This record gives sequence, C-alpha cells and structure tokens, in this order.
Amino acid sequence: MLLDARLSAALSLIRAETHADIGSDHAHLPIRLIQTGRVKQCVVVELNTGPLAHAQQNVARAGLSGQINVRHGNGFAPLQAGEVQSASLCGMGANTILKVLSAAYLPPVLVLQPNDSARALRVWAQQNGFHVQQELLATGYWTYAVLRLERRAGPDPAYSGLPLGAALRYGPHLLREASALLRGQIEKDIERLTPLAAPRRPAQAELQDALAALAATALIQG
Ligand SMILES: C[S@@+](CC[C@H](N)C(=O)[O-])C[C@H]1O[C@@H](n2cnc3c(N)ncnc32)[C@H](O)[C@@H]1O
Repeated sequence: MLLDARLSAALSLIRAETHADIGSDHAHLPIRLIQTGRVKQCVVVELNTGPLAHAQQNVARAGLSGQINVRHGNGFAPLQAGEVQSASLCGMGANTILKVLSAAYLPPVLVLQPNDSARALRVWAQQNGFHVQQELLATGYWTYAVLRLERRAGPDPAYSGLPLGAALRYGPHLLREASALLRGQIEKDIERLTPLAAPRRPAQAELQDALAALAATALIQG
C-alpha cells in the first residue's frame, strides 16, 4: 500500500517509540509507520464507527494488531497522559484539528496536516508553547502544508527576521526554503486577492501577507 504525497510527507516527519494517529480512518499512515520501523507501537483513534471498522480491518489484514491498537473515541480522550510521545492529525480542517488540540493532555510532538490553511495552527502553536520545527508542502487535490511541532520554551526562533503575518500564513520554514511550489501558491493568492482587497476587508490583510511573502522569498533567493 502506497501513501499519497500528503501522508508520505507526514510519515517523513514522524519517528517515535509510541505514536498516536488521531482521525485515522483507513489507518494507512500508522500501518506504514510500523512497516517502515519509524514507530514501534501505534494507537489509532477514531470517532466514527464506519472509519473505526475500516481501520480495524486494515490493521488486521496487515497482520499488525500486536503493534497497532485501534480505539474508539474523541481526539486524545482514549489516551492516557504520557502514553505516546507523538501524535498526528491529518486530512481534517484546521478548525477540527484545533478542537482536538484543546485536550488537557498533549504529547510533546505533533504532526499536523490540515486540508485548509495552516495559519490558525501556527498561531495556536505560538500561544501554546510549541515551536514549528519542520514544514513540508505536499501536492494533491490542493497543496497541503504538513507541520511538525515540538513543545519548547520561549519564542519560536523560526520566525525571527521574517514578516510575521506572511510567516504565519505561509510557514516560516517554507518561506525560508522559497520553493517554486510555494512561490506559485503565493502568486496565485495575489492574483485571487487583488480584485477582492479594499480597506477593512479580510482580503486586504491576506493580500498584504501574500505580497510580504513574495518579497521575502525574492530576498531569500537573492
Ligand atoms: C478525512 S478523514 C482523514 C483520514 C486520514 N487521517 C487521512 O489523512 O487520510 C478524517 C477522519 O477523522 C475522524 N475524526 C474527526 N474528528 C475526530 C475526532 N475528534 N477524534 C477522532 N477522530 C476524528 C473522522 O471520523 C474521519 O475518519
């Protein structure tokens, strides 16, 4: 079983003894995590019974019931504090991910792949003692940002020297990398937002961030 680009990107950001995949559905990511040796033990958490059965079936078919424990429940609720060292939440909207992250217990490493803008997750990380350690862009139906957050004290050094609005929207590491994929995305945003932007409209702030991001990538590229 091959992972698509966004789950492959998430896989490459995970390495742990024990990991939880929250909202796993088919359980493709935890199965590959075990098969590739990146993780020794995995917990799968699923809220809905259809996807839960799907996960249980695929885990049994892969012969990995000893290494992957599939649990029914909401977000981190079926996990004990300290039980896993890292967790992934992939293929959901950023708002759904944020609701799950409001749990009392969170592991020190989070790998997040929202289906929409990752901005709210970067803001959450800044406000909740997590640093953005790594970021990848994956292509698919949309272009997806995949983030590895780690619990760390103090301000996140990833943002230093970057325009904050642009870095929160496009990602501090992704801006520094200034890939053709990111620049294409910024240029498309500028084209979409220019006719919508006017003083006090939300599109105005978004356009300012996109213009600042383009300028930052141009500077980085020299
Ligand atoms: C679109 S699927 C993504 C599946 C897989 N992670 C992927 O990226 O391909 C989202 C899954 O998250 C589950 N889900 C949504 N909210 C959840 C929550 N609070 N706790 C556990 N699972 C949740 C849904 O039932 C669904 O199976």
